[in-house]
Amino acid sequence: ADAELHVLPLVDSTNQFWLNKKDQNVASGSACWAECQSAGRGRRGRSWQSPFGAALYCSVWWQSQCNLSELMGLSVAVGLAMTRWLQQMGVPAQVKWPNDIYIDNKKVAGILVELESRSDGCGSAVVGVGLNVNLPKQASDQIDQPWTDLSQWLKPVPPRTNLAAGLYQAIVDCLEAFERGGLQHCLTDWSRYDVYHDQAVCLVMGAHQIQGVCRGVDGQGALLVETQDGLRSFFGGELSLRQA
Ligand code: ATP
Ligand code: BTN
Repeated sequence: ADAELHVLPLVDSTNQFWLNKKDQNVASGSACWAECQSAGRGRRGRSWQSPFGAALYCSVWWQSQCNLSELMGLSVAVGLAMTRWLQQMGVPAQVKWPNDIYIDNKKVAGILVELESRSDGCGSAVVGVGLNVNLPKQASDQIDQPWTDLSQWLKPVPPRTNLAAGLYQAIVDCLEAFERGGLQHCLTDWSRYDVYHDQAVCLVMGAHQIQGVCRGVDGQGALLVETQDGLRSFFGGELSLRQA
């Protein structure tokens, strides 16, 4: 089947759009874009503010040959690929494990990878990205952490279609590289773009906290933190990474 392209004025969530079609044998690389989401989401059921025309909201469907545990590292790979793409445009973007992109310590983009297992043992992935372009100031009422958008860093902001085409290419190139060589193959230069590299961080797991120094990611996408007990690796899930 050929890759599909859907451009919608409004959708609940571009990720949900593909999850609704997961049994329909959609071609890898198919993309859904929306001008607005009524139920844009982040990790753990948090909401992603998605006002009309103010950002890019996109999800790419990917039927992988990798299994689910390999695919756990995918958001790390996509985050780095997006960061490199922004850097190529002159934007000083940095990646924050496991799924965010920051500029000047403010969040500019988020990635939500949702995985589905198939009967052949491999996984399918919905790779969703939200990239703020020109959010209205009032968005601050809804977003409980510092945020930024491309209009504050790129003057003039490139036309939306150019941004969309570049973003799509960056995502698909990353997915193909991941498919060929796994996460390790995608991780070159992680430390160069890692917002907390060699910095004191705090890992929050509910009421529990761990202090340490951020030392990058391993070949599975786990975060490496040097703690009192030595170098430890942590997987995403219920964890949040904060500056200490
Ligand atoms: P972590 O992933 O480390 O747990 P997080 O706070 O970044 O931390 P996510 O689930 O990744 O959590 O993202 C959801 C959060 O992102 C929301 O709770 C909100 O604070 C913030 N957010 C929501 N919409 C936007 C947006 N358009 N731009 C920037 N940030 C947003
Ligand atoms: C995060 O930081 O937690 C990830 C946010 C991901 C937001 C994008 S917007 C397009 C796609 N559709 C969604 O509902 N979420 C992702």
